[in-house]
This record gives sequence, structure tokens and C-alpha cells, in this order.
Amino acid sequence: MRVRSPEFDFTDVSPRWGSNLEAVHLVNSQGMIPAYIEPFLIKVMRRAAEELDPLADAELLRDIDLFNRQEGQHYRLHRAFNAMVRDGGYPDMVDYETVFERDYEHFLRTRSLRWLLAYCEGFETIGSTGAELWVDGLMETELGAAPSPAVELWKWHLAEEYEHRTVVNRVYHRLYGRPRLIAWLYRAKGIVSATRHLNRRTSSLRAYLLDVDRRGMTDEERRRSVERETATTRKLGRANLRRLARAFSPFYDPATTPPPVGLQAALAGYPTAAGQSKGT
Ligand SMILES: [Fe+2]
Ligand SMILES: [Fe+2]
Repeated sequence: MRVRSPEFDFTDVSPRWGSNLEAVHLVNSQGMIPAYIEPFLIKVMRRAAEELDPLADAELLRDIDLFNRQEGQHYRLHRAFNAMVRDGGYPDMVDYETVFERDYEHFLRTRSLRWLLAYCEGFETIGSTGAELWVDGLMETELGAAPSPAVELWKWHLAEEYEHRTVVNRVYHRLYGRPRLIAWLYRAKGIVSATRHLNRRTSSLRAYLLDVDRRGMTDEERRRSVERETATTRKLGRANLRRLARAFSPFYDPATTPPPVGLQAALAGYPTAAGQSKGT
């Protein structure tokens, strides 16, 4: 695991950066997630780190530090991506972002550390099990996207999600791993809570983004657009769920999630942040 600090220039990227508009807006709406969940992840991990033993948990604490620094890079660049979408004709996106950001403030104020970690582990599970969809090219094919900084951003991000897939899981089990049956059920509930919450918030943003574009469509074009949206959402939803299913096993260990074929290629060539210790 290492911290990379790429730069992606979205100046010449359109919010409609692929030929499948409905898939593009599905991804544009999902782009809201890292911008707000990842600062939240960092806060939760800092809270968890306070519960760990500086000596006995030294390795886990080092991994938390690398994890937090990777997530810090992710949300910084996704905010630039989101600004490209918002400024490209979707100004009301900010309203959806505000609601989403407030959810995390609310969670931090009202939920237990165990709940927060289970939710975060749910999100990390969704990202790492679905990483191959981006890293191995299925997403860009579905999007009809030519090579662009937008594609590169998502590939790099999901490759790193795969790379740091064990960290939250290890922290969760270190603090709340017993009794094992309860730990399993609670972790599984975290996957469901995160999935539901993220789907709810991103589907309303997706509806807004598509609505803006559909205003300029004829009735027939709009009908076809709705059909494509349903087909794309179902197809990608199923692809994600198939990969996510294994995480509901009581024996799930993210360390054993198969790597995307193109993992090394997706991570190669990005500058490594200065001053870090290089791990695995
Ligand atoms: Fe991330
Ligand atoms: Fe992550």
C-alpha cells in the first residue's frame, strides 16, 4: 500500500464524457460519494485509532495512516471531478451534495463507533469487490467513454480501493470482532445500510442530472432515455451485486478478494507522495 498523488485535469472534460448518457450520469451521481464519504472515513478511522494500542497495534495504526492518506487524495480529486460536472450545466447538484454532507455530520454526532465502522466497512466492501468493473474496463465500455482524465480518475481510485481493502475490516474486527456471530451479523448489516443510503442519495442526484438533459429531448428521445437508464442501472447493479454477494459470508476476508487483472497497470506511473513509508 502506498500513497500516490496523481493530478487529473478536467478542463477539457465534458460532464457528458461518454456516449451512454444514462450510464455517464449514473457514474456522475456516484462521484458525489467519495467527496463526502471519504473525509468521513478518515474521521471515523481517527476515532478508531484512539482505541488502539500504540505498541500492540502498531502495524494496524501504520495502515490506518496510509489508508487515510490514500482516501485524502481520492476525495480531493473527486471534488475537482464533481466541480466539472456541476459547472457544466448542473448547478443544483450542490443541493444534493449539501444533504449528503449533512448525513455524515449527523452520523458522526449520533452513531456509535461500532456502527460507524460497520457502515465504513460496508462502503469499503462495495468499492473493493466492485473494483474490477472499473480497473478491467467493463465500466468504460458500458459508458462508451474514450480515454480521458475522467476514466483515469475512476480506474486509479478503484485500484487503490482494492489495494487498501483490508484496513477497515481489520480495525472493525480488532475492536468489535467478538462474539463472532454478532460481529458477522453487524458487519453484514453495515453493507446493507451503506448500500441503501448511497443508493438513495445518488439516485435522486442521477434523476436531477438526467432531468436537465431530458428537458431538451423530444417525447420519443425521452422515452428511449428512460429505457436505457433502466437497462443500464439494472445491468451495472447486477454486476456489482454478483461481486458483493461473497462479502455476506461469515468467512469473508477481503484479503482473499481476487485482484482485478489490470491492477498493477492501473496503479503504475503515478508519483508517490513524499515522506511516506512504503508498505506492501
Ligand atoms: Fe477512496
Ligand atoms: Fe477506501
